[in-house]
Amino acid sequence: MIIAPSILNADSLNLRYQIQEAVNAGIVRFHIDIMDGHFVPNLSFGPQLVSDFKRDFQNIKLEVHLMSNNPKDLVPMFVKSGADIIELHYESMSENKLKYWINYLKEKNVKVGLVLNPDTDINVVKKFSTQIDQVLVMSVYPGFGGQKFISESVVKIQKLKEILDDNIPIEVDGGINEETAKMVINVGATILVAGSFIFGSDNIRQQVNKLEEF
Ligand code: DX5
Ligand code: ZN
Repeated sequence: MIIAPSILNADSLNLRYQIQEAVNAGIVRFHIDIMDGHFVPNLSFGPQLVSDFKRDFQNIKLEVHLMSNNPKDLVPMFVKSGADIIELHYESMSENKLKYWINYLKEKNVKVGLVLNPDTDINVVKKFSTQIDQVLVMSVYPGFGGQKFISESVVKIQKLKEILDDNIPIEVDGGINEETAKMVINVGATILVAGSFIFGSDNIRQQVNKLEEF
């Protein structure tokens, strides 16, 4: 099981210290939410954050959750910034373009995640399953941290587990806390994104430990 904290709702002016606390608690991968104010109605970080992060935390893996329908400009920038994994939304572009960008990332030796919104049919993964490294199931509508977990996501993950090869891990993003973590792990999720549960508390280590118990 991997816990990938989302720094979206961390304290921007204390980011280094909060990241360090999570690293001290054993975190080896972070989830960086990139929002373009268009595909989702919010803004967040840019490639500079990713390159600064990689410069100062060299052993930490970064997955970039790209919530944008401008892959042409943004994907190359995030590759350049040192992202280890780039996660592309199925809904953000045509299937042909998605195939193109998945291949592009493979050629650049960057791992690829396919992201599915809550209303997207899980069967679409079949078209990409030979090319992707992981699937990210959104358990909230993307755009904001701190939302409530959509409980239908549990059945969705269960069904996805049945159609996916065992070597493609399922990650879940949105509304993860002690209870919902248990629910999604029980049906086969192995990577959990957690934002407000970890950074919405004064005790980051304790929150990480609570999720690591599973
Ligand atoms: C939502 C983002 C999530 C978010 C998770 O668009 O993709 O990664 O930061 O935050 P919590 O854990 O608070 O739902
Ligand atoms: Zn995310």
